Amino acid sequence: AAPLKDLASKKGIYIGAALGNGNLADAEFVKILKREFNHITPENSMKWEVTEPSPATFSFGLGDEIVEAALAQKAKLRGHTLVWHSQLAPWVNQATWTKANLTYAIERHIKAVAGYYNNVPLDHWDVVNEVISDSNGLPRDSVFLKTFGSVDAYVELAFRLAKKYAPKSKLYINDYNMEGEAIAKSDALYELTKRLLKKGVPIDGVGAQGHMLVGQVPSNITAVLEKFTKLGVDVAITELDIRATLPFTQDKLDQQGKDYEAVFRACLAVKRCKGITLWGITDKYSWIPGVFPTEGAALVWDENYQPKPAYDGIVRALTTK
Ligand code: G3I
Repeated sequence: AAPLKDLASKKGIYIGAALGNGNLADAEFVKILKREFNHITPENSMKWEVTEPSPATFSFGLGDEIVEAALAQKAKLRGHTLVWHSQLAPWVNQATWTKANLTYAIERHIKAVAGYYNNVPLDHWDVVNEVISDSNGLPRDSVFLKTFGSVDAYVELAFRLAKKYAPKSKLYINDYNMEGEAIAKSDALYELTKRLLKKGVPIDGVGAQGHMLVGQVPSNITAVLEKFTKLGVDVAITELDIRATLPFTQDKLDQQGKDYEAVFRACLAVKRCKGITLWGITDKYSWIPGVFPTEGAALVWDENYQPKPAYDGIVRALTTK
């Protein structure tokens, strides 16, 4: 078949993959990356713990490797991520900040990191990540929430600074488990985005991560994405993978193929859905077993780089009505 990136371009969307620095040493991985994808997200190497491991000491070497790989194949990039409670440098996670001091630290960080990559430039930035918690749509507990007193306050700050230092990038708010309707988290993210846009906060897009389960892809992704775009923002699926309990049976593989097809169709049905990024390429590497020990096999190529039914599902979505 034609490369996925060519099929996606014809449909007006990009197709991306997350890339760990270690993946670059795997020739088979890089071959598929080059052939199939036109958008790249650094899986870990632009996170705060990597880019500013101690105060005002910046480190761009790992991020640069990903940028170079992307530029070498003319792929665009998604920066990931400026303000997130996880993989935060330990010094930021300390208990005692004044609002003024943390504001200063956030500005120094965004100025350095977003500013550094503004000349590439990055196509998209996940400015804030996972700011809504999993319980009832309450704001995510974090050093940011504690110090600023409200999620609105620090998210507004992050976006205004990102706009200042990365004016060429589209600025996204990104979260998971918000792709379905009647989910408190999805509603809370929607209301937050709406409030901030009303205040003139420069949010360009909402990222739906898309970490999903085989056979449990929400049926109403299109409706949810549409609802967000009616606020006047773009949307994208930013970290798609569809896992199941191991071992995989043929049934599960086939269902996974249908699930990938459904997610691609959902994005294609939404005018302002800009593209889809897969959180990896091959089942050989995955974050999942580290977090869900009995689950995995969530990606599109198997451990031996053979395309799975998921690949055919994506092709179907990109080539047929
Ligand atoms: O680099 C160290 C290595 O030196 C050490 O030996 C090894 C031992 O555990 O850990 C390595 O760090 C790991 C890092 O990935 C790089 O491989 C961390 O332990 C591990 O926790 C970290 O996991 C990442 C995870 O985010 C952290 O939350 C995953 O690779 C990454 O795929 C995952 O990505 C997140 C997105 O950023 C946000 N959305 C959810 C998504 C999946 O969890």
